[in-house]
This record gives sequence, structure tokens and C-alpha cells, in this order.
Amino acid sequence: MSNTTVQSNISGPQYDAWLGYLQGQSGVKGAARKAAPVWSHNVSVAEDQEMISTAIAELTQGLEKLFDIKPKVSHSAASQASESDLTGQEAHGVWLGTWTGSEAVAQAFSDIERSAVHDEGYLIREDKEQGRLFIGSETPQGVLYGTFHLLRELVLDQESSNGVHPAEGRLSYIAEQPVNALRMINQWDNVDGSIERGYAGKSIFYENGEFTRDLGRIRDYARLLASTGLNAISINNVNVHQCESLFLTERFLGDVAKVAAEFRAYGIRLFLSANYASPIEIGGLLTADPLDEQVREWWNIQTAKVYAAIPDFGGYLIKADSENRPGPFTYNRDHADGANMLAEALRPFGGLVIWRCFVYNCKQDWRDRSTDRARAAYDHFKPLDGRFADNVILQIKNGPMDFQVREAVSPLFGAMEQTNQVLEFQITQEYTGQQRHLCYLIPQWKEVLDFDTFAKGPGSEIKRIADGSLYNRPYSGFAAVSNIGADACWTGHPLAQANLYGYGRLAWNPELSSEEIAEEWVRLTFGHDEEVVRLIYGMLLNSLEIYENYTAPLGVGWMVNPEHHYGPNVDGYEYSKWGTYHFADCDGIGVDRTVSSGTGYTSQYHRENAERYESVDSCPDELLLFFHHVPYTHVLHSGKTVIQHIYDTHFAGAEQAASLAENWRQLEGKIDPTVFDKVAKLQAGQAEHAKEWRDMINTYFYRKSGIAEEQGRTIY
Ligand code: GCU
Repeated sequence: MSNTTVQSNISGPQYDAWLGYLQGQSGVKGAARKAAPVWSHNVSVAEDQEMISTAIAELTQGLEKLFDIKPKVSHSAASQASESDLTGQEAHGVWLGTWTGSEAVAQAFSDIERSAVHDEGYLIREDKEQGRLFIGSETPQGVLYGTFHLLRELVLDQESSNGVHPAEGRLSYIAEQPVNALRMINQWDNVDGSIERGYAGKSIFYENGEFTRDLGRIRDYARLLASTGLNAISINNVNVHQCESLFLTERFLGDVAKVAAEFRAYGIRLFLSANYASPIEIGGLLTADPLDEQVREWWNIQTAKVYAAIPDFGGYLIKADSENRPGPFTYNRDHADGANMLAEALRPFGGLVIWRCFVYNCKQDWRDRSTDRARAAYDHFKPLDGRFADNVILQIKNGPMDFQVREAVSPLFGAMEQTNQVLEFQITQEYTGQQRHLCYLIPQWKEVLDFDTFAKGPGSEIKRIADGSLYNRPYSGFAAVSNIGADACWTGHPLAQANLYGYGRLAWNPELSSEEIAEEWVRLTFGHDEEVVRLIYGMLLNSLEIYENYTAPLGVGWMVNPEHHYGPNVDGYEYSKWGTYHFADCDGIGVDRTVSSGTGYTSQYHRENAERYESVDSCPDELLLFFHHVPYTHVLHSGKTVIQHIYDTHFAGAEQAASLAENWRQLEGKIDPTVFDKVAKLQAGQAEHAKEWRDMINTYFYRKSGIAEEQGRTIY
């Protein structure tokens, strides 16, 4: 890779996302950009290492764009920075490298400082008096993350339109350590170029049954991901069809290796979703029984071939016995048998099996009220605790159902002390407006992360299970389904970029607040015009509640059109096989998941939460219909009846959606016209669609219950 160009030549507003370095933005209106720091003219490096070259390329490009300068890069084995050796101009500069690779960098930090970070962690020190800046880490990856952090601070430190420096003085000393070891993105891309639940155009990875030739776009994606701190990616859909099963074979391994190389330059490890039935479908065997010797041998050999092509291959992501995908159940084996077979094949190479827990009966009889899809993951996996090999990680969705705007958290977190676990989020907005509606998801994820499971007493939050600390697990972290595609701005809705950015930042540090992340993203993307920042920040932070207001009420979920899941359809899934019901009749609504009279799901939580959810009195309003079937006249803690709550939130939600569109219109002339027009159209569409939601839901419940709306507003 050359040291000066890191990006492909694709361009367009918001293609650079949060890495635009205020180029072509209205950002610093009325205020001159800050002068280039003294150290920014020289960059010194001692190591010849790919990720460090990436860091230098990113740094020089960022400095060039920000300050309109051409930093000089010096490579020297010693990379000296002691005062006696350097004079004049050369004494100023940036030194970056690892402790073992660069003496200058190692010397810039004390032993105590260095011991505070490890692996991908890094230190930054700015010595203003001497005009020097150092970025150091134990690993090249850490150096790269430190470099992106420096660039972020430099953008945030530009003077804003009201003369304030949002990040004044933050740079002098930074010590950062990622909280989660695995920080992964899952692509649901298919080799025909389509993306399962993708709302931002076609795949950037594949077209017409082949890998794309445009590796530049993939590299641009890698840098976006790495800049937020992400370090792993699986590049194909968890539903692995016939053709993608061949990714493990000579037919495609060369292509996979090329993609892996693009991600490697940015410190991102590549994984593949694998088909559990591969020994049959591509290996010509008659079985995929995990205890069959031939099957095990097949996986061992095939895995060795994968590693021959990609020595740092991450491992397999597996969706088995789920939504008609094959799995060990066919052979009367359990999921530990299945996962451990793959673990054995991957172990010699340091690979991981990431095994998804989204396992439930998708052929349920809607008449049967005793089966509860929410129970399924816990019922399947809890009994297997302690049986999984060390290099197996279970990937668990944040909720027990499926990425609804509101649902309870999965009780599997806190139920498995002896099993590695990864928390799965969905960035792509399958059930939250499909990137046509604005829905900033970070506040939802924060609630999940801060949820106390009480697994080991108070303070057993989900974030401590995800990061491995509660049970001291070797492997843990975050995974999330990506929201990008070949769309010019990556994410369909330009503001949906905030969810991708926020996911990466949260995976690095779950303590960051939704507000901090939103503000950072807006400033990096749109600059520091305070009016622009205020309006977009406000839109983002209100958007989740607005979306929840006009869609399915009080945690009951669904009410969407079948299959594509867009738009209101209250009974869309009511008489289906999918296990997603609301049970509304003329008296009431909700799913009884209590032990006393329902499916017993509440017992899957530890006592404090089980008791809270079991009783209608203590169940939080927002989850009432997830846990209880109640009459429409039931009075919530808010003092409203359930039916009036439904009416009120739907009238409010539609009005709020209209005000989002109104807020955006105030930005005309203040941001790029292409972006302005695109979002203006999307927000107008959302406002219209919110009315459709409002009217369908209100009308449905008015007709079912016969209870009039208190204020006499129009219901049909
Ligand atoms: C949802 C989604 C599917 C997806 C599945 C999964 O059910 O609608 O398209 O395959 O989740 O997570 O595996």
C-alpha cells in the first residue's frame, strides 16, 4: 500500500462518512480552522509493518485534509527522538510505533504508563513545549487505533461556530484500552449481490455469483470499521446457501483471501459463515453427524485448506437448526456436539467457532398457547453450560425474540457461567424503519448493556457478561449485523451512519453515553456549526422513542407486514407459524409469560428480575404486554389505561415524526444539498408513514375494544 493514498477514488457527499475531516462541509463557518500543530509536519516511524503503514497513510492523509499541509514521513531503524540527536525542525514531529519496534516511542512513556495498556490498547502523549506527539502500543493494531483517535480529537478540537473548542485540551495524554476483545460485524450478504435485510443497496462484496473486483470499496469499508475500533468481520449471510457453501473450497478461497488482505491492513480478522451441512452439500458425504469420524475428518481437512489460504482466518459463524437451516438435531445430537466438532477443526490454527443461539420452533401452531418462542434460546442452551470447547463462543441476540424496537433482554445472559458469550445487535433496521425512518439505536443498546441480570448479585450487568469479566471468560465481546450496502452514502439514510459509528464506539467502550456518541458523530460528519449540531443531535436522540410511539405498543412487538417486515399490519403474524403473537381480543391484549398463569418464561431470569416481571404491579409499563395479557382498561403506572396509552402514543408519535421532518428542513443551505434533499425526502416519507401506523393501530384497537378515545381525535 502506498503511504499517501488510503482511499479508493469513489467520492460523493457522505461517502467519507465520519472520516471526511471537515472537507467540503459547512463545519467551521465564521471561524478559521486552527493552525496545524507544530508536530504535524513530520512523521517518524521505525517499523516496517503493514498496519503501521496503514496508520501512517491515514495520519498523513488526515493531516493533509485538516491542515492543508504535506507531512514529511521519515523511516529510520532507530526512530530517535532524544533531544541531543535532533535539532531544529526535525525535533518536532509525531513518532508512532510499538514498544518493541520504536525506541523513541517506548521512551516517551514510563514503565507504569506502558503497563496500563496491553494488546490493542494505546497511549498518546502530546508535548506542546517540545512540539512532539507520540502514539504507542504493544501491537501495530493499537498504533492504528491510536492514530484514528488522534485524528478524531483533531477534528473535534477545531473551533466551532460559537468559538468553543469541543475537545479543548483533551489531547495532552490519552490512555485507551478496548473493553471488549471481539468487536465484530456480521454481513448478511449473498453472493448473488443481494443482502438479507439490507436497506442500502446491493452488496459491496459480491455481484452475480462472484466476488466483486472492486476491492477499493471494501478497503474503504475496512477503514470506516477500524476507525471506530472494530476488529472482526464475517463476510457472508448466516443463512449459507449452496453457492456460499463453496467459500471454503478452492472455487472461492482465492477470492476470500483477497478480501481478507484488505481487512488485514486495517487489523480486522475475517470470518466466514459456514453451512452446517457442508460435508453433505459440498463434501459428498451422506451425513453431517458431528460424531461421525468421516465428518470430523472432512472438517479438519477443509479447515486446514482455509488456513493455507488465509493464515490469520478468524473462524466459522454458524446458524444451525434455526429457521430451516441444517444442524445437529437431525442426528439427535445437541449444539455442544455440533460446535465442538468445528472447534476441534479450528483449534490447531487458533480459530473460533461463533455459534448462534437464535434457535426456536419456526413451525409453531398459532392455536398452541403453551409454546413460547421467547423461551427457546434459554431452554436449548442453558442445559449445555460447561459442555462447549474453549474456542466456542455463543452469539446471543440482545432480546429473546428478534430485534424488536422494544423487548425484554435475553435471559440467557447471566445463565451460563461456563460458556463464552457474545452479544448480538442488529444495526440494519429490519424492525426499526428499514433506513427509511430515522432510528438512532444506541439508546436501545445502552439499556441492554446496563441491564442488571443479578447473576452474581447486584452489579452483574450485561455489559460485564459481554466483556467476559463477570465470569472471567477468555473470549467475549460484541457482534452486530451491518447496515451498509453499495448505496452512495453506505447506509441508505445518511443519518443511519450514526448507528454503525456508534456500534463500533460502544463495542470499544460500553460506558460511552448515547449523547456523547451522537455529538461526536454529528461533529465529525457535519462539522461544528452549532445550529447544525443541535438540530441533528436532537433528531437522533429523540428518534427511537418516536419510532416506538407510533409502532407496536408496550413491548408486544411485530404488527408488521409478513416477510419484508416493513409497515403496519397488526395481525400480520397473528395466525402464522412464527411464534410472534399479541393475542388481542375484544377485552385485552398481551402475552402471558408469567409462571403463575402463562408460559413460565419469567422464571428464566434471576430472582430480582423474575419477580419484577412476574407481577403486573411491578412490571415496567414499557414491557407490560411482553409479559402480561391485560384488559384494555388496565391502568398503567403512568396513570393511563392501556387503550388510552395506545391512542396517545400513536397520535404523539405521528406528530413527532412530522416534527423531525420540520427540524430537518431548517438545515436547508447549511449542509450539502444532495444530503439535504435525500434526508428531506426520507423524513417526509417517515412522517406520512407514521400516520399510516397511527391510523391502522388506533383503528384496530378502537374496533376491537369499542372504547372511545378520550379527546375525541379522529379514529376510523
Ligand atoms: C431474523 C431475520 C432473518 C434472519 C434471522 C437471523 O429472523 O428476519 O432474515 O436470517 O433473523 O438472525 O438469523
